[in-house]
Amino acid sequence: MKNLFDETKLGGVTLRNRAWRSATWLGLAGRNGEITNGIIRTYAELAKGGAAMLVTGLTSIVEDDATIGGEAKFYDDSFVAEHRRLTDAVHDEGAKIIMQTAMVDGLVDELATDEVEGVVRQFGEAAARAERAGYDGVQIHAAHFFYLSKFISPLFNHRTDRFGGSSEKRARILVEILAAMRERTRPGFVVAIKINSDDCQPGGLAQDDFLVAGKMLSTAGIDAIEVSANYTSRPNIRAGVNECSFLPAAAALAAIVKTPVVLVGGVRSLETANAVLAKTAIQYIALSRPLIREPNLINRWQSGDIRPSACVSCNACYRTSAHACLFTVSH
Ligand SMILES: Cc1cc2nc3c(=O)[nH]c(=O)nc-3n(C[C@H](O)[C@H](O)[C@H](O)COP(=O)(O)O)c2cc1C
Ligand code: SF4
Repeated sequence: MKNLFDETKLGGVTLRNRAWRSATWLGLAGRNGEITNGIIRTYAELAKGGAAMLVTGLTSIVEDDATIGGEAKFYDDSFVAEHRRLTDAVHDEGAKIIMQTAMVDGLVDELATDEVEGVVRQFGEAAARAERAGYDGVQIHAAHFFYLSKFISPLFNHRTDRFGGSSEKRARILVEILAAMRERTRPGFVVAIKINSDDCQPGGLAQDDFLVAGKMLSTAGIDAIEVSANYTSRPNIRAGVNECSFLPAAAALAAIVKTPVVLVGGVRSLETANAVLAKTAIQYIALSRPLIREPNLINRWQSGDIRPSACVSCNACYRTSAHACLFTVSH
């Protein structure tokens, strides 16, 4: 039976347990998107706290992208050396780290087919650059209405070329990005994705579209699929009461693909994490706010103190400096 503390292999890396730190934008990058000492300290602390796999906060891979404020940028080789400091710091603490490669926003319907191919190429180049910066892999960001999430949504994509017109065609960009990344990186370099299972809006992407995309990505050889949805950080989660916001979609995908599925959203207790691992085909559990509240949570659970996360899902950390927990920052 699966357990949170199992060691596993994913792509070419060994993970010391099944706990991931889900991508969490820190707002701490420098004015030009540079990695700062604050970012390195935060990830080193998370790595020390026990999670096996850290996914960076969304990192913009195109120069003329929109911004959400203080996100890291990675659109050319000038960023490689500073990211190497980050990946070294995480590896020194025994964790693995993959970069969440993202475009914040951009045009969907208006792009010519060769311009979409240009987007695909840029994601491929970002993966090659991430490998040079010491990352164990990348995670394609296709959730929460950032660019790729819009691209695969019927709400935004009305294209009539090979990139639009059906669930399969809208999802094709993801498969082409995966291929472009594989082409430019060594075997074993992890390519994962975080994807909406539901846009939670009338006329938006729904679970059927998500399952189609998930199957296509699995067939194309993606290493892991993290299942999210819009309105991702649901409020007022209580351990044992209303955990696991996206469990039905994640379990449905895990039941039909061999690719490891990562559950994120509202997991607050070891008991629930282990029940999910025992009862479904889901392979990994990702946490964001519990690890903001308590970066050491995984080690705490492993040491036998299995009280649930102290996070009360108030979402104040979206507004605090460095997205720190309201209850742990000094006032
Ligand atoms: C401050 C903050 C920043 C976040 N930044 C990102 C991000 O950069 N990329 C992403 O995919 N999700 C981001 N999320 C969403 C989380 O990764 C996660 O999907 C969500 O919070 C649900 O998980 P949780 O209940 O464990 O917090 C962020 C969440 C928070 C609270
Ligand atoms: S501010 Fe703290 S308690 Fe509130 S959601 Fe964020 S991490 Fe959890």
